[in-house]
Amino acid sequence: MGKITWKPGTLEAPLPPVLVTCGNREKANILTIAWTGIVNSEPPMTYISVRPGRASYPLIRQSGEFILHLPTSRMARLADSCGIYTGAKVNKFEKFHIQTEEASSVACPLLCEAPIALECKVTQVIPLGSHDLFLAKILAVDVDENLIDETGRLRIEKADLLAYAHGSYFTLGKKIGNMGFSVRKKTPGRSGGGAGPARASR
Ligand SMILES: Cc1cc2nc3c(=O)[nH]c(=O)nc-3n(C[C@H](O)[C@H](O)[C@H](O)COP(=O)(O)O)c2cc1C
Repeated sequence: MGKITWKPGTLEAPLPPVLVTCGNREKANILTIAWTGIVNSEPPMTYISVRPGRASYPLIRQSGEFILHLPTSRMARLADSCGIYTGAKVNKFEKFHIQTEEASSVACPLLCEAPIALECKVTQVIPLGSHDLFLAKILAVDVDENLIDETGRLRIEKADLLAYAHGSYFTLGKKIGNMGFSVRKKTPGRSGGGAGPARASR
């Protein structure tokens, strides 16, 4: 079996379809973004790529702030809706009964339902073509308490995070190993993960 070669495209998957809030208490908005990722460890940095025509664009550009929320599989419908409706026509917070609370480091609303959120400050705006890339420092990370075990470790597998691939939404499935498991000695009775602390940072 050979391969077929397609013209250039955006077929990188899976990606998190993150819910991004922007603005402040007076004027806020929320949209779904799949063009996102981590780009630096120290300082922790991320990016979102946003089309200038989005209602959220001027809010992010003017304030230089946004919050990126990782949705759960139960939030798939909300993630899809926030990526279909525009804040130019509807108040998505009201329409979808979205509960918010104050964030610690930025003025944007923090989604109560999202288990993990990154509060971000824009450091650079890079026009790329269809989208402008907002490069940002992560100022704070908000994590649901019920994802932390008795040793203080984040059990991210409990979060049931949502994935997006080639136009479809997926659940993550089961954990099959920790980073470095391929080179670690097998401990009897343990599968996949092996011993040692999980390394969250690279
Ligand atoms: C799964 C999904 C991923 C999306 N990813 C992006 C993206 O990366 N960048 C972008 O500008 N729009 C993206 N969109 C489209 C916006 O979320 C959509 O146009 C939204 O209605 C914009 O809202 P606003 O006008 O209120 O800002 C995505 C939509 C969906 C459903």
